[in-house]
Amino acid sequence: MKDEFILSKPINHLAVIMDGNGRWAKKHGLPRTLGHKEGCKRIIEIFDLCKKYNIKVFTLYAFSTENWNRPKDEIACLFNYLEDFFNKNIKRFIKEGVKVKHMGDPSRLPIKTQTILKDAIERTKDCKNYVFNICLNYGSRQEITKVVKNIAEEVKANKISIDDIDDSYVYKHLDSGDLPEVDLLIRTSGESRLSNFLLYQLAYAEFIFTLTYWPDFKEKEFVSCLKEYCSRERRFGAIKE
Ligand code: IPE
Ligand code: IPE
Ligand code: MG
Repeated sequence: MKDEFILSKPINHLAVIMDGNGRWAKKHGLPRTLGHKEGCKRIIEIFDLCKKYNIKVFTLYAFSTENWNRPKDEIACLFNYLEDFFNKNIKRFIKEGVKVKHMGDPSRLPIKTQTILKDAIERTKDCKNYVFNICLNYGSRQEITKVVKNIAEEVKANKISIDDIDDSYVYKHLDSGDLPEVDLLIRTSGESRLSNFLLYQLAYAEFIFTLTYWPDFKEKEFVSCLKEYCSRERRFGAIKE
């Protein structure tokens, strides 16, 4: 019988660190780039599952500020696959009301990627049903540093006083300031670290680190993560009887 699992706790915002493309390729005797190709196929599948489980916001870590340390041809291939991803899915996003968002500094991305991303953001700017948030050339420390500088400028220009700065003021200044709190973070491939991802935003998220490489991360595995999430007790510092 088909899995009719229903989330007993809603997930408003899911964040995913897609990891293990390279090791998946190696395991299959393929070049790393083919791992990225296969990995890029999982992105839309997992995003479709988010819709099925009423998860409105999906944030994907696809390229970090540190990933520039990789070979140029691997980087170029990855961005090609991501461009293909947007070219293939943009019409569907518009039809389904999916707003495309980008976090990270776009200026260092390949020009073609910048153009495709800008176009996708522009064409979906009024979409309200879901958010597909892609982090490319994203680093959380850089994001936080930018927030600190922006707020310091506001103080310097006498737009606000220091007393106006509280947690929610800082949150709103993050690139994700318009998104709900992250409920669940999933990282594939067995690495148990954040690698400079959403350091501020994940303060109270549930973390799931799965051994599966991203290209093997399909519905069964995804649903078992959702089940694991539903079994967790989120206390937010309080006591539950
Ligand atoms: C994730 O897979 C994709 C990116 C980081 C861009 P990796 O390329 O990191 O795969 P592994 O970790 O080397 O297996
Ligand atoms: C983190 O994965 C970045 C992305 C998934 C985009 P990495 O594979 O680059 O992280 P490390 O090097 O293992 O920490
Ligand atoms: Mg990796």
